[in-house]
Amino acid sequence: MKKGIAVLGTQCGDEGKGKIIDVLSKEVNYVVRCQGGNNAGHTIVVNKKKIILHSIPSGILRKSVLNIIGNGVVLSLKSLVKEIRNLEKNRISVLENLRISYLCSIVLPSHIEIDKAREKHCGQAIGTTKRGIGPAYEDKVARRGLKIIDLFNEKNFEIKLKSILDYHNFYLKNYYKAHEIHYQKVLEESFKDFETLSKISIDLYKLLYKSLKNNKKIIYEGAQGSLLDIDHGTYPYVTSSNTTIGGIFSGTGIGPKFVDKVVGVLKAYSTRVGFGPFPTEIKNSIGQFLCKKGKEFGSTTGRARRVGWLDIVAIKKSIKINSIESFCLTKLDVLDELEEIKVCVSYRKKYCRKKRYSVIDSDDLEEIIPVYKTFKGWGKNTRGITKYKNLPKEAIYYIEKIEEFTNVKIEVISTGPERRDVIILKNIFYE
Ligand code: GDP
Ligand code: IMO
Ligand code: MG
Repeated sequence: MKKGIAVLGTQCGDEGKGKIIDVLSKEVNYVVRCQGGNNAGHTIVVNKKKIILHSIPSGILRKSVLNIIGNGVVLSLKSLVKEIRNLEKNRISVLENLRISYLCSIVLPSHIEIDKAREKHCGQAIGTTKRGIGPAYEDKVARRGLKIIDLFNEKNFEIKLKSILDYHNFYLKNYYKAHEIHYQKVLEESFKDFETLSKISIDLYKLLYKSLKNNKKIIYEGAQGSLLDIDHGTYPYVTSSNTTIGGIFSGTGIGPKFVDKVVGVLKAYSTRVGFGPFPTEIKNSIGQFLCKKGKEFGSTTGRARRVGWLDIVAIKKSIKINSIESFCLTKLDVLDELEEIKVCVSYRKKYCRKKRYSVIDSDDLEEIIPVYKTFKGWGKNTRGITKYKNLPKEAIYYIEKIEEFTNVKIEVISTGPERRDVIILKNIFYE
């Protein structure tokens, strides 16, 4: 029996991690979010009720699960308190089931202003979510950032906040000619939000080790996707954290021996929000159809997601850099009406017809042309199917081909946004 399972996005985010973790968390004691911030948007639908989570882990809809925000996450206090209140309005009890590592770094309002100013004025915009994520991680690494633990010492927090805001305001005013941030307002709001959060702030690694000793089952929840990883993604069009497996260890304080299995969430086609290379992007009416049918609009910013065919070359990289052992395939139903479905199996360089590449060289992504295999569509409704044998034979062929190309087994198939729209082929917790 597996005890620690990592669930990670294998593409550019929005693979359906929230839906999958909500399904799988039925069997676990804890769900621990490890990195990223409220740039994430994880959608869960239960009995037609849609919940979008940003910083809170995706086990929160289950009363039996303790949800923990790990130290690798950057937290906007205001946005977290708003998220808690929204869930409570939906009659989901949060505070009993949520804990926050007091080593989480804080996203300040000035980080958000810096993010916005850079996107507006910098020559090479990334298409960020403008949630201040990059600037917050920068300050963490530069050792001038604030952490939740700083709020426990009021005087110290005041001094540290003043110092960092002076620095941010100088930069905002003189470099970007942008709005300055009011120190007193941030100070007061921080302590107001902390009234709610102080009760659930903990020393995470101690809690985790105690739980591991007591044989608790844990899902480590990834945010974003592997191709947005700061080290391994399509730099500079990435987010500012390690979205791949290493982010789990640094973002929680557990060691690798406590992750028994790495599960990749794989969307049956590709999407990307923001700028950056996207070799299999579909820029015609099929792309528009998939965007509409798949409701591919960012859960955080509402932006339309760019849509493309499945890219096996990119996925093979994700498998390697994460040690992915099995897949949860999502959004198969979105392909139902297509006559033909393409899958990119290798790349070739522009102007060079002969040589094909089955591995990614990210510097070259703008320079490559995908080589596709085309599959016959199934033309039947798969939405809501819960048994593998009820899938159309062409859909089963598509699934088996993905397994063959990647050499990774698909253990769960999602056939719709609802919690119940799922085919469980194998209990991922068993050997
Ligand atoms: P995440 O960031 O990886 O958690 O993914 P998002 O929640 O941002 O985006 C996935 C979207 O697809 C959400 O709107 C989900 O409700 C939806 N979704 C998840 N699985 C399926 C599926 O199998 N079929 C369909 N049609 N929608 C799905
Ligand atoms: P989930 O967890 C999709 C993208 C942004 C942008 C880049 C950098 O829902 O899968 P940032 O605000 O992080 O500095 O933006 O990363 N991005 C995501 N794209 N899903 C996400 O999260 C994302 N989080 C960030 O669109 O291209
Ligand atoms: Mg998302």
